[in-house]
Amino acid sequence: MKALLIAGSRNPEGQTARAAEAILQGVMKAGGEVERVWLPTLHLEHCHQCNPQGWGGCRQMGRCGGCDDDFAELVDRVQAADAVIFATPVYWGDLSESMRAFTDRLRRISTHEDGKKKLQDKIAVGVCVAGGGGGGSPTCCVSLDKVLRTCGFDVVDLLPVRRQNLPAKLAQLALVGEWLATLPRSS
Ligand SMILES: Cc1cc2nc3c(=O)[nH]c(=O)nc-3n(C[C@H](O)[C@H](O)[C@H](O)COP(=O)(O)O)c2cc1C
Repeated sequence: MKALLIAGSRNPEGQTARAAEAILQGVMKAGGEVERVWLPTLHLEHCHQCNPQGWGGCRQMGRCGGCDDDFAELVDRVQAADAVIFATPVYWGDLSESMRAFTDRLRRISTHEDGKKKLQDKIAVGVCVAGGGGGGSPTCCVSLDKVLRTCGFDVVDLLPVRRQNLPAKLAQLALVGEWLATLPRSS
């Protein structure tokens, strides 16, 4: 079983990283393999809304034709994974900009059969870490759930975390990782 972490934080040693790493440790404990992607380190543009109607290659071909960047390669990595863990810091009660940009483009390619088949029923877990005052992780989870379901993911868990409860939640996050590794693989 291969789990792919897609993290929307710039800090590989920050709070989002700690929460995500706990899940990955659980996956590995249960015998799974893990891969990590830090979105802000990639070249990922926001959607260019290519034509006057606001569409483009996403709708016509199920892939992005408007940006020459790392998006297509990352979609291939998502397709190759058995489960994808989306971990984002909470910004204004919502997704980080890098997570928003990536998931906005993912939902677009899911409007065409060729893009949809790469994401449909793929197991996903979301983790939203409010590392400042601690507010906004539940609303961030709602936002993440909405966009992932629009993409076609099978969202099997969503975990709101705040700075104040992060230490207490690490054990729960690790258990979720262990459980994830026992699920039937996405086709
Ligand atoms: C633009 C911005 C908005 C933020 N909004 C919130 C917020 O709504 N609630 C909160 O608790 N923390 C907020 N924070 C703090 C981040 O959640 C915190 O920096 C983040 O969890 C740190 O995680 P990281 O080290 O994994 O990047 C915000 C931070 C930034 C930069």
